[in-house]
Amino acid sequence: MRIAISTGGGDAPGLNAVIRAAVLTAIDRGWHVLGIKKGYAGLLGDDEVIPLTRDEVRGIGHLGGTILRTTNRGNPFSYPVRQPDGSFVEMDRSDELLENARNLGINALISIGGDGSLAIAQKLATKGMRVVCVPKTIDNDVSGTLSTFGFDTAVNTAMEAIDKLHTTAESHDRVIVMEVMGRHAGFIALHSGVAGAAHVILIPEIPYDLSVVCEAIMTRERRGRFFDVVVAAEGAYPKGGTESVMGDSMPGQSRRLGGIAERLAQQIQEKTGKECRSLVLGHLQRGGMPTGYDRLLATRFGGAAVQAVEDGKWGHMVALQSPNIVTVPIEEALRQPKKVDLGHDLVRTARRLGISFGD
Ligand code: F6P
Repeated sequence: MRIAISTGGGDAPGLNAVIRAAVLTAIDRGWHVLGIKKGYAGLLGDDEVIPLTRDEVRGIGHLGGTILRTTNRGNPFSYPVRQPDGSFVEMDRSDELLENARNLGINALISIGGDGSLAIAQKLATKGMRVVCVPKTIDNDVSGTLSTFGFDTAVNTAMEAIDKLHTTAESHDRVIVMEVMGRHAGFIALHSGVAGAAHVILIPEIPYDLSVVCEAIMTRERRGRFFDVVVAAEGAYPKGGTESVMGDSMPGQSRRLGGIAERLAQQIQEKTGKECRSLVLGHLQRGGMPTGYDRLLATRFGGAAVQAVEDGKWGHMVALQSPNIVTVPIEEALRQPKKVDLGHDLVRTARRLGISFGD
């Protein structure tokens, strides 16, 4: 048996722990493992395919990033191909990919990725590829699994940043708006905001009203609390408005969100007269060593993915449905993106603590 492993989309702390667990579990069964570098690029001749042995995965479980590298521009069904004039044309290279995989003697693929990679894997599965997925995203927005690895590390990074913002915001009587990742789902903002005792949390699931946000800030002021920490997911947007979008993205990439923190800081300053500052936590949330929780989840996912290959669960992804690791059809996981459930006790608890969601 010869299996291959690839990591696609944005990186997340815990990817190396999945790779390590999958490789060691496969070797334990006497299988051979190949690593496809940079998403699917290795299978399209744009990067390498390397053997993954015990040596390659030694001492990597605690490291952030991915030894296989990654890209969020590697969709083989619309692969950006550079033209002689420097422009890019998107081409369907999926047949080439399948043929190259066959030529390398790959019997099955373990694809580790977020919703984009899952959708690609699903399409490859319908074209006959024997593929099993491991869900990955710091945003935690994949359905069918209670959580994805990388999320806990990102929450801890954001929470520590909020802790630090408290002291400086309080010293200066300022409002500090911090932008965290979360394109369509506000899990990082919600979890880090509650854990770090933010005063306002803005998430894509609850379009905010600027005057409500300002009123929450002024209510605190009347109580003698002169500083505020506002945590906003990058995908948060005002009622009747739109998300803040950053400049151009690269060919084959989804549009880049960003700018909500600075926009809000300016608006809050204008409306309340309070001094405001903003910061974007950005890719710090994707870096660093995975927490113990993420390492364990990633390790369980890696082992379970090899088991899923052995069981022939093609077109399935491994998932956490506490206390078990199960497999669910990718199709089911993709049916709808996971969003913050507004009836969840964490949202209700936050409201009872006086945290404003701007609604
Ligand atoms: O992993 C998902 C994500 O964290 C999103 O929240 C964010 O918009 C995106 O990655 C940014 O990715 P990149 O800057 O690598 O394109």
